[in-house]
Amino acid sequence: MTHNIPQTMGQQHGRRSWAEPWKIKMVEPLNVISREERERALAEAGFNTFLLHSDDVYIDLLTDSGTSAMSDRQWAGMMLGDEAYAGSRNFYHLEEAVQSVYGYRYLIPTHQGRGAEHLISRAVIKPGQYVPGNMYFTTTRLHQELAGGIFIDVIIDEAHDPASLHPFKGNIDLDKLQAVVDAHGADGVAYVSLAGTVNMAGGQPVSMANARELRAFCDRHGLKLYLDATRMVENSFFIQEREEGYADKPIAAILKEFCDLTDGAWMSGKKDHLVNIGGWLAINDEELFEELRNWVVVFEGLHTYGGLAGRDLEAMAIGIREAVQDEHIRSRVGQVRYLGELLTEWNVPIVQPVGGHAIFLNARAFYPQLPQIEFPAQTLAAELYLDSGIRSMERGIASAGRDAKTGDHYYPKLELTRLTIPRRVYTQAHMDVVAESVKAVYDARETTRGLKMVYEPKYLRFFQARFERL
Ligand code: F0G
Repeated sequence: MTHNIPQTMGQQHGRRSWAEPWKIKMVEPLNVISREERERALAEAGFNTFLLHSDDVYIDLLTDSGTSAMSDRQWAGMMLGDEAYAGSRNFYHLEEAVQSVYGYRYLIPTHQGRGAEHLISRAVIKPGQYVPGNMYFTTTRLHQELAGGIFIDVIIDEAHDPASLHPFKGNIDLDKLQAVVDAHGADGVAYVSLAGTVNMAGGQPVSMANARELRAFCDRHGLKLYLDATRMVENSFFIQEREEGYADKPIAAILKEFCDLTDGAWMSGKKDHLVNIGGWLAINDEELFEELRNWVVVFEGLHTYGGLAGRDLEAMAIGIREAVQDEHIRSRVGQVRYLGELLTEWNVPIVQPVGGHAIFLNARAFYPQLPQIEFPAQTLAAELYLDSGIRSMERGIASAGRDAKTGDHYYPKLELTRLTIPRRVYTQAHMDVVAESVKAVYDARETTRGLKMVYEPKYLRFFQARFERL
């Protein structure tokens, strides 16, 4: 494994810059409201960026989910939607794309990633079983818990340290995994839950070597290895860049090799696949497929549309092919890295190394004066919106929620504010504006006060919780 992380992609080729492998055909005007209007909008939204109206937002970095710009090919594909209830031709296009790009045998379409998480959790978790995974994701863990599973974090320790420069901070610690099997037996483990580029850790990748070790571990213990493939194309880019022997392999080949080590995957097409809606579940086991194909008609829709229109299936089938083009993924991650480099140069504390889909501001380092229960990352998201109308997302104690058994808050080590970059949407000049606003908020950090939660929904509270200034 090489630990070489080039920080400026352009410099790999002397003084030549990289640029996006597309040009812009249609634009969507942006709106900027005044500081006074933003104060009012934020108070009405209970200091929660999820509750803002998007018309009140200037640059929207809430999420990279469903916010991509589609290509002219994808839009053309939308016009070829076959809206038959059963057996739509677009389903077969999608099936063919997933089989050939990801390599799994059987496909179940779902309306988005959490639809797939629901189905697989319900089908394979027995109540009381443990689900070891490389850090939690909000919806993934909740579906595992609703199915009676108990999530255990087995990611390497470096993932919890925003300053660690480990090149594969998404890796699973095999000793931690072994300890789970020793304590509960292989029968007590539902499956190993592996996510490509770990969202909550900062978009950090998993190495091919780690996936290979996990495969061998699972084979030894008779366990299944299921993959959250949501940002697995981005993960493949980091393998190509950082892992010995992969520099000359195409992204598509790396992705396929990785997926071949797993027994199945669930997918939020709203990320890597460059679409506004869509997801899927794909597996190799025929018996499990029969069961899932039965469940999908109960919760999502018939097994050839899974809650999507034919045109959505077509856009996703085309997006899958575009997503694995080397030039696409290089410019996608390159733009995220450009923003990260500016902030690093200005000594703003962010999670290092910069991940695949977002910059994660280290809110603890912004506001050492705020205890975690005063929601430093939520506070930072609010301040950023007030400064410039940029919308970001809390990924700290509010997102972590409460322990279902004890009712206590989870206190995650990472208290982060995410600036998530939509794919093919904003320009480098937008990234400059974002960096400058973050810097202004950082410069005003010492006088910033925290928040208290005044309304708390029971599930995935961060989406709808309300706060007030202390
Ligand atoms: N897995 C990961 C790693 C995700 O990031 C998401 C969604 C999902 C599963 C669920 O997929 O939204 O299609 O139901 N992440 C979005 C985000 C919401 O903003 O990070 P979904």
